[in-house]
Amino acid sequence: MDSLQELVQEAQHAIEAAQSLESLEQVRVVYLGKKSQFTDLMKTLGQLDPAERPQAGARINTAREQVAVLLEERRLYLDQLERQQKLASEVVDVTLPGRREAPGTLHPVRRVLERIENMFRQAGFDVADGPEVEDDFHNFEALNIPAHHPARAMHDTFYFDAHTLLRTHTSPVQIRTMEQGKPPFRIICPGRVYRCDSDMTHSPMFHQVEGLLVDEDVSFADLKGVIADFLARYFEQEVAVRFRPSYFPFTEPSAEIDVACVHCQGHGCRVCKQTGWLEIGGCGMVHPRVLQHGRVDPERYSGFAFGMGVERLAMLSYSVQDLRLFFENDIRFLRQFA
Ligand code: PHE
Repeated sequence: MDSLQELVQEAQHAIEAAQSLESLEQVRVVYLGKKSQFTDLMKTLGQLDPAERPQAGARINTAREQVAVLLEERRLYLDQLERQQKLASEVVDVTLPGRREAPGTLHPVRRVLERIENMFRQAGFDVADGPEVEDDFHNFEALNIPAHHPARAMHDTFYFDAHTLLRTHTSPVQIRTMEQGKPPFRIICPGRVYRCDSDMTHSPMFHQVEGLLVDEDVSFADLKGVIADFLARYFEQEVAVRFRPSYFPFTEPSAEIDVACVHCQGHGCRVCKQTGWLEIGGCGMVHPRVLQHGRVDPERYSGFAFGMGVERLAMLSYSVQDLRLFFENDIRFLRQFA
């Protein structure tokens, strides 16, 4: 019976030493399980005098009961402790700001287009629109580029059939605008155009901004003024502009528009290929035959037109060296314009 007291004490120490519910369970198996010393003691009762048996049995049971109570107390304590630790480690700070949805941003080409639109709107131009799937008449014929004209070869056209194609420039909108109204006309048309061409500076789809101004007494000086004014605003500095004689079937005379390289101020660098100049589009006085196709009287009216490459302008203002970056939709590239 002395050893019974010791056994309870031993169990008590073991119970207090248990630091987790798991190790407490091991202690329980040792002291209250089928192979525990209490079970062994019960088995020895048979050796006692029958008169002593009930009392001895009761004492063993009481001792076992004590151990059971201690175990249960410890279990409650550890259970509580583990719950608190879990709560502490999984704490949620409900005062933290929530995860926001990242808003998208405008594509750099879209930004440039909107800037250009705003600038021309302020100068009194309307923004016109035309189909990207065009017919041969508007894309070529009415622009004084008849079938077999060598200028067609420069356009690398995507055809659907003999009469239907993806517009190769925004110039067909000149015709559509004139067809639909009466002069004076003062419009720009920003939009997508397509050519079967792809490398560092060419993409099969790109953007142009067409301009058309038709009125009485319009001269090349007006064209020069509008273009020079626009470029100074666009590049936010006075830039030298050069009109280099060129040829387009739908304008006469025609010119290529060059600006002094905005990177080296015309001294010559990699961007301008050491020429000091950057080509940004074509322009000219609307050909009388084009006015006629647009049902405008060339005896009374004259006009100018221009077409500028939007990606070219975007590359210059954002210092982007490879045109294809605009269309790869790499989020790391696009994020820079947020
Ligand atoms: N349409 C011509 C091109 O795509 C540009 C241009 C437009 C030239 C208007 C003159 C007048 O190259």
